[in-house]
Amino acid sequence: MKIIKLKQDLKSEIESLKSSGKTIGFVPTMGALHKGHKSLVKRAVEENDVCIVSIFVNPTQFNNTSDLEKYPRNLDQDAGLLEKAGCKLIFAPEPGEIYETDELNAPFEFDFGGLDKVMEGKFRPGHFNGVVQIVSKLFKLVQPDKAYFGEKDFQQLAIIHRMVNLMNFDIEIIDCPIVREPSGLAMSSRNERLTPEQRKKAVEISKVLSESRNFAAQLPPRELTKWVIDMINLVPGLEVEYYDIVNTTTLQTVNSWTEPTVGCIAVYCGDVRLIDNIKYKIMDN
Ligand code: PAF
Repeated sequence: MKIIKLKQDLKSEIESLKSSGKTIGFVPTMGALHKGHKSLVKRAVEENDVCIVSIFVNPTQFNNTSDLEKYPRNLDQDAGLLEKAGCKLIFAPEPGEIYETDELNAPFEFDFGGLDKVMEGKFRPGHFNGVVQIVSKLFKLVQPDKAYFGEKDFQQLAIIHRMVNLMNFDIEIIDCPIVREPSGLAMSSRNERLTPEQRKKAVEISKVLSESRNFAAQLPPRELTKWVIDMINLVPGLEVEYYDIVNTTTLQTVNSWTEPTVGCIAVYCGDVRLIDNIKYKIMDN
């Protein structure tokens, strides 16, 4: 497995892969890899000739500098996991290799069609500008046939689909299901920051979401939203930032179950912010 840090070296590798007709599966990451990432990599390995993973802690998608500084970085450990999973090439550039100074200071322009104004976008302004900025750059450099994203970041995935359409990327985006710990807790690099006591509490998030499916037949989305928020806030140490039941494509709040819906949540467990989501079946029309 190769680790490449320079765009120029990546370009040579991609040219050689393309000229020998190899298909490329790409998994963009910010490192601090866990079993959720591993499942994306395994799928990319199975479905393509070569799997490329990027590890880049993207400064433009962070809302505050202390979060960016605290973000865990451990290239050796990540490389070990990726090699075992069958990855052939890691692209791990430094910020200076990716961004010109003016790009770091001006917001990246993109027509989000409102997808950036709700949920994560509302609480992390500018975050998705940074995500689209880096993912579009990486797509241009890596030129993959398929790119793999986890459904845990549901809003990010919806925005990536829009970006691929609007920017005419000839790349198939593969939505990969959330990977959960045996307790039900969605896998996240942030879980490492939970104390054993907090981890027990955090399990209630996926439990309540899963239980909420049983009530969806009786309650309209608005009432179910309130039920989920109340149930989670009842657990000492958990505080819901938002829960919203939205259309899976437009991400706008729904008032009935006639559309494909997903419930997306952000919860503070102490100072650790966790996100999760659940899809509801369409029940009436
Ligand atoms: O989901 C992530 O880890 C990041 O947002 C991504 C897609 C790698 C862009 O930096």
